[in-house]
Amino acid sequence: MAKNRFTGKVFVITGGAGGLGAAIAQEAGLQGGAIAILDTNSDAIDSLLINLRSRGIKAEGRAVDVRDGNAVTQAIGELSDALSGIDILITAAGGSLGTPRDMDDISDEDLGLVLDVNVKGTYYCARAVIPHMKKKGGGSIITFSSIGGRSASPVTGVPYATAKAAILGLTRRLAKEVGLDNIRVNAIAPGLFLTDRLAEMFGSLSEIEQNEVIAGIPLGRMPEIRECIDPVLFLASQESSYITGAVLDVNGGRLMSN
Ligand SMILES: NC(=O)c1ccc[n+]([C@@H]2O[C@H](COP(=O)([O-])OP(=O)(O)OC[C@H]3O[C@@H](n4cnc5c(N)ncnc54)[C@H](O)[C@@H]3O)[C@@H](O)[C@H]2O)c1
Repeated sequence: MAKNRFTGKVFVITGGAGGLGAAIAQEAGLQGGAIAILDTNSDAIDSLLINLRSRGIKAEGRAVDVRDGNAVTQAIGELSDALSGIDILITAAGGSLGTPRDMDDISDEDLGLVLDVNVKGTYYCARAVIPHMKKKGGGSIITFSSIGGRSASPVTGVPYATAKAAILGLTRRLAKEVGLDNIRVNAIAPGLFLTDRLAEMFGSLSEIEQNEVIAGIPLGRMPEIRECIDPVLFLASQESSYITGAVLDVNGGRLMSN
């Protein structure tokens, strides 16, 4: 991809210090974007910023919990000042967050954590960036759903399925609300990408369950991380300028639905 594809564009990436978020940050930065990371893991933010800056990428970061709407708004304001506005938001903060898969083992706190980080966190971050995008004449928001919110996943439980399905409703309704502001809102729904966290979860499945997952993928293989990053950056770019309110399934054909 062209080194200047995102020149002049400012990305906010939540969960940006994690597996997919950091990979998006690096690729968007290498293609010319300025990068702002929001994550709770301050050590991981610090090492990512060193890495990005050493490659000549303009990058900032804030240790913020996306469940705290006021802290999110303040951090986004500071980052917008530091990087001259915001063009693209990618809300990767989320996941099943170490909570159990089976209902008998899931506490009320587990349920609250998964819903709050994934759903309220996405909402708070979108709410915070929209005024800054309006000032720049538009923008693109990419939310993170999951195949686990589109179908019944063997890996994750009911709270995750609920949260990732809710993100699709959020995405569509918000797309309708901000379309006239030239802000597009789309969801990505990845299948299983073996970031460190997911490699551990996949490894905890029985061999039979693992084989069932791979047998259910028409492309017959697990994906490379790049195969999630490129579709996210497509939704971030002008190449998708007439796409909004959509969900992009990136799962090797494991789920085929409309
Ligand atoms: N990896 C996959 O296969 C896969 C598949 C489908 C969907 N997803 C979704 O993609 C997103 C990223 O997944 P990943 O595999 O990179 O996960 P990850 O665990 O590697 O990264 C998630 C990041 O979010 C941060 N985070 C967690 N809670 C937070 C909070 N309250 N506030 C701010 N930051 C917080 C973590 O510190 C971490 O850096 C998640 O929303 C996940 O549900 C991933």
